[in-house]
Amino acid sequence: MEPIRVGIIGFGMMGRMQALGCFGALADDFRLAAVCDDHTPHLAAARELFGPDVRYFPDYRRMLDECDFDLAAVVTPDFLHEEMATACLRAGRHLRLEKPMALDPGGCARVIEAAEKAGTVVQIGLELRYAELVGRMRERREVLGRLKMLWCHEFRHPFLAKPGSVPDWIVRREYSGGTLIEKCCHHFDLFNDFAGARPASVYAVGDHEVQYAHTDVLDNAFATVEYENGTRANLSLCMFAPPAEGRPGLSTLDFGLLGDSGRMELRGDELSVWDRGRPGVESYRHERVDLVGHDDEIVPSLRDLVRCIRTCGTPDADLRAGLSSVMTAWAAEESVRLGRPVEMREVEERFEVDYPA
Ligand SMILES: NC(=O)c1ccc[n+]([C@@H]2O[C@H](COP(=O)([O-])OP(=O)(O)OC[C@H]3O[C@@H](n4cnc5c(N)ncnc54)[C@H](O)[C@@H]3O)[C@@H](O)[C@H]2O)c1
Repeated sequence: MEPIRVGIIGFGMMGRMQALGCFGALADDFRLAAVCDDHTPHLAAARELFGPDVRYFPDYRRMLDECDFDLAAVVTPDFLHEEMATACLRAGRHLRLEKPMALDPGGCARVIEAAEKAGTVVQIGLELRYAELVGRMRERREVLGRLKMLWCHEFRHPFLAKPGSVPDWIVRREYSGGTLIEKCCHHFDLFNDFAGARPASVYAVGDHEVQYAHTDVLDNAFATVEYENGTRANLSLCMFAPPAEGRPGLSTLDFGLLGDSGRMELRGDELSVWDRGRPGVESYRHERVDLVGHDDEIVPSLRDLVRCIRTCGTPDADLRAGLSSVMTAWAAEESVRLGRPVEMREVEERFEVDYPA
């Protein structure tokens, strides 16, 4: 079968990682056709790496007009996701759109409208869903019985410097939506998926007094999500923790689920499963290949994308996951701003968007 021709828009840290490590690892399925970046040194770096077989564009609209490729991978700063995603979909391309899907639920709804018109395959870069041990947790979900509590700790090093055409966009709310949207849409996606219900309200507190005092994004927060089925989830985020041992470039994800008959805990690459009715603990370990990047999760997500493009399927990290994670994360950011819980109903009314069924 012919490889899927990929056009990457945004050749910064993640675009590079995807072009080399992820799409590169699946060379039978994907072929890099074009790279776009409006920051000259980044486009030059791509040219240096991939040579004359790939086409290079400083303007993504020109790339869509002049280059024939199948899949657009949008890997630009978050504030560009909506505009670029809708343009790629209008041009009839399949789309892999980095998280967050857009800066707010209204932006997500406009991407969904464009996707429905295009009828192409869209995957959102919520790759934690594809982590081996998260998959194992999904398989073993029945151990929990009735799920009551979810928790997630991400204690990590600060965001890395962003030297591209919009320097350090990631620590400016107008460009990233804020830390709970930019970073934590991943965690809210896991909460929403495992809770299996609509969030009723989100209450979050946080500030930016340590790492980001010079700017306007949070560097620490606690967020609690109450679901309509009585499940509760709590996220703790710290953006100024020292790096975890053995994983210099990666934060450690600690994620736990507690139900009335069991418990599962993921700590980095170790998963423990307790069943109240049985003695002992089951343990699983993921042997990480990529210690500095996200290839261990993104490569499986791309396998799902290939399958969906070949069979007109819907990826696990679909538009609904993208929208619901942004709705929950947006409510959390708003809750910090207002200093009170925010109901999902308020978010729906404000953006005239329903939380996906
Ligand atoms: N899924 C994950 O775990 C994960 C991890 C890191 C980053 N990301 C996401 O990937 C995206 C990019 O993050 P990054 O860390 O690579 O940022 P980055 O700043 O390193 O790279 C962004 C690139 O986009 C380019 N760019 C900006 N405006 C452009 C335009 N108008 N046209 C073409 N190129 C343009 C910049 O010059 C830069 O090279 C973000 O949405 C981020 O949330 C996801």
